[in-house]
Amino acid sequence: MASLTVRQLDEKLKKRLRLRAAKNGRSVEDEVRTILRSAAGDEAAFAEVSAAPKPGRKPADAPHILLIIGGGIAAYKSLDLIRRLRERGIAVRVVMTAAAQKFITPLSVGALAGEHPYLDLFDAHSEFDVGHIRLAREPALIVVAPATADLMAKMAHGLADDLASAVLLATDKTILLAPAMNPLMWNNGATRRNIALLKAEDVELVGPNRGEMSESGEAGVGRMAEPLEIVAAAQRLLAPDSGVLAGVRMLVTSGPTHEPIDPVRYIANRSSGKQGHAIAEAAARAGADVTLVSGPVNVPDPRGVNVVKVESAREMLAAVEAALPADVAVFAAAVADWRTAANSREKIKKTGKQSPELALVENPDILSTIAHRKAGRPKLVIGFAAETQHVVEHAKQKLIRKACDWILANDVSPETGIMGGDSNTIHLVTAKSVEDWPPQSKTEVAAALVARIAAALSERT
Ligand code: CTP
Repeated sequence: MASLTVRQLDEKLKKRLRLRAAKNGRSVEDEVRTILRSAAGDEAAFAEVSAAPKPGRKPADAPHILLIIGGGIAAYKSLDLIRRLRERGIAVRVVMTAAAQKFITPLSVGALAGEHPYLDLFDAHSEFDVGHIRLAREPALIVVAPATADLMAKMAHGLADDLASAVLLATDKTILLAPAMNPLMWNNGATRRNIALLKAEDVELVGPNRGEMSESGEAGVGRMAEPLEIVAAAQRLLAPDSGVLAGVRMLVTSGPTHEPIDPVRYIANRSSGKQGHAIAEAAARAGADVTLVSGPVNVPDPRGVNVVKVESAREMLAAVEAALPADVAVFAAAVADWRTAANSREKIKKTGKQSPELALVENPDILSTIAHRKAGRPKLVIGFAAETQHVVEHAKQKLIRKACDWILANDVSPETGIMGGDSNTIHLVTAKSVEDWPPQSKTEVAAALVARIAAALSERT
């Protein structure tokens, strides 16, 4: 029987074969074998060739993330996201929408992901080789970044007119969305309703953040979360128990302190402890070894956390020092700034003449004391700033004065409902930047903070 080599084929045919092989992620020889087997009607052999892992393709059962890239300017950050995931040993398979391909090319995505991205629902190869059902079923997690308003609307209403939306409809895996859009689109009632529908279906969100838009002069909530934030959120969802903070020792203060005036009365503030407790719980869920030093609160002890209960600022400082060393310390407590100079052992009685004079002295600043330590300072010291005016300016001053690494500033004016309420609006102030987070529940703030801490620790290592 005469033998035929690829080299003997004419140039035009060789070029077409090379293109087809590149598109299918096969060697030219494998491509020829596949075509011949198919032409010979050898279905069993064809199936065998197709099922075998091809060079650069992941075996079907390799744990991987399916990244769906939507069509938005933030798609350029998805290239970095692929790189960051792979750096951490997470394999990535990519689906690009038609609009995404207007912003970045399949070639650059393929180069970073180590395999060609999937582009078309009706691509004969893609449908035969993997198909949208397998794309939907095999990953450990699906990440959509950027998640455009259009893609989220399709998801919310069950549309499936392209590969990305068909995969999202066909999956039973956890979906993490990293929305990115213009602030007006994000705040539009239709988007708000779609987000509510998706949250009700347990779809997870990371971001969007507040900041400058790519359109000049536009700013607001709508910037896609940074790649490292998305990585941290993905890792949290991939391994909620072993978690992104596994092995990290974390100290959290929470709640108000009560400063006694006499055995019956005390000075206090309106802190509920909801935010600090949520942070302790989120960190424990992420695998951290957490000690929570809490003032008197009415919220339940978080699960999986070592809780130390105190009353006064001085007791809180002593408990915090006893809980060190720690890798990370978050000071969320609303510590009373003053205590009475003399704590009466007996109940102070009314005399009917003049009211008692309460001389006050300043309490120790727990955050500042720990952040200024020469020895045994936690690697990451995070404070809060409860302000009623010039929120960010005051927070920046506190960051310097108290020598902490980050400050989570919030406006606690009564009209915000933050003190004691269930939601919070945070400005993350660091030495280098100020980041405005959207209004979200205290649980979501806790999850976002844990993701940031995990990202910062992994950056340092
Ligand atoms: N803090 C602390 N010990 C104190 C006072 C505050 O550890 N005695 C911590 C808080 O837990 C918070 C940060 O310092 O992380 C800022 O607290 P905040 O109440 O906003 O500021 P104050 O230092 O009390 O300053 P001021 O009341 O003047 O705004």
